[in-house]
Amino acid sequence: MGKTAKLIVDGRTYELPIVVGREGEMALDISRLHKDTGLITLDPGYGNTGSCESSISYMNGDEGILRYRGIPIEQLAEHSTFVETAYLLINGDLPTAEELNEFSLMLNNHSLIHEEMRNFFEHFPRGAHPMNILASMVNAMRALYPEIPEESEKEDIDKTLARLLSKLRTMAAMSYRISQGQKVVYPSYLFSYCANFLNMMFDTPVRPYMIDEDFVRALNLFWVLHADHEQNCSTSAVRLVGSAQVNLYAAISAGISALWGPLHGGANQAVVEMFQVIHESGGDPAPFVARAKDKKDPFLLMGFGHSVYKNYDPRGRIMKKMCDKLLQKKNINDPLLDIAKKLEEVALKDSFFIDNRLYPNVDFYSGILLRTIGIPLNMFTVMFAIGRLPGWISQWKESREDPKGKLHRPRQVYLGHDKRDYVPVNERKKGNK
Ligand code: ACO
Repeated sequence: MGKTAKLIVDGRTYELPIVVGREGEMALDISRLHKDTGLITLDPGYGNTGSCESSISYMNGDEGILRYRGIPIEQLAEHSTFVETAYLLINGDLPTAEELNEFSLMLNNHSLIHEEMRNFFEHFPRGAHPMNILASMVNAMRALYPEIPEESEKEDIDKTLARLLSKLRTMAAMSYRISQGQKVVYPSYLFSYCANFLNMMFDTPVRPYMIDEDFVRALNLFWVLHADHEQNCSTSAVRLVGSAQVNLYAAISAGISALWGPLHGGANQAVVEMFQVIHESGGDPAPFVARAKDKKDPFLLMGFGHSVYKNYDPRGRIMKKMCDKLLQKKNINDPLLDIAKKLEEVALKDSFFIDNRLYPNVDFYSGILLRTIGIPLNMFTVMFAIGRLPGWISQWKESREDPKGKLHRPRQVYLGHDKRDYVPVNERKKGNK
């Protein structure tokens, strides 16, 4: 008999089982609560709610730990590539050399997109946000590609997942080229996953793009750091929408839409915009820190704080190191990096940020890295989406295979009107509807 907790309601005692995770974290199992007691729990934002059991990522917000399938993010950042990390997340273990080769080949073979999809692309209004285009295009993929059948062979699943991983990158580059009124560049079998993306973004007939291995490494790192992050907002959207048994493309499209928000993936764009404003106003971060502390001012210090990390985000630490290394190697002096460091220093000494345990998150330095590679500002969140895709896929797959999986359907505490009668339209008065 495992541990239990006691809940006493109106003098009656109920025992709730305690589930213990791999790292000793404990959760009250309330799955029978409503049936047994008629009660539900109230947890706006789900900050205290475990929505599933998962074996993909482990994070510890107090200690600033993140592991994919048990492997510390620091080790993957140093030794792995995005493609290898994607394989690890989706399949559970690191690939052998042969498996990695096969996986890379499969990504290469599926990198072209259906020519009919170009029609969709070309009819988006100029100036449409690339996240808008990407979410729509991924959903549209279902019209051109089959979904995974219920009783599918592993090869079918692998092919569908590889198709999505590979094509999302092609579509992202394509949406950028079209938004610029430029000719689309096709993927090439000559390049790796990351190099291919850079080539599709930047190669032109008048100025062939020279692949820079430092940029390829930096992009690999950026994507490895974004590849999964347990039950964050967009992943929860993928799982929730997926729980209705929609096709994979619709579920991933929901994740892309959730990621777009400035409190989530959209923060990387908002951070650089904030650095720019600080730079243009003379470079002193102090007034911005003061604004962030003022509860009457809606301004937030973008790239600071996290729902789970109450310590330095381990991904932020690695990102900062990479920015320093890359800019130094390339002999680039980006004034926004100096602003970021000054801002971090002022905020981390301030009692508001200390007391609220607010530290730089992954987005605080990631925009500087993307700028250095040459990625335009409105593509930043798309870059996050490409990186998060292996996580979304593996979480979707895990929930699909979960024998305990069921339709996600939270409850609510109703605070609206009491029962009242319908009033015919000609009898309604303002304030008396
Ligand atoms: N600037 C100013 N105040 C902040 C900030 C910030 N960046 N972050 C949190 N706070 C305040 C909160 O308003 C809260 O104040 P209150 O207690 O008076 O209500 C207090 O600090 C504690 O906040 P938390 O509970 O730790 O944070 P919460 O879970 O509510 O929000 C969030 C997390 C949404 C990420 C928030 O920190 C934020 O908006 N940050 C800026 C946006 C950002 O960088 N988002 C990217 C997150 S990482 C990612 O999704 C990839």
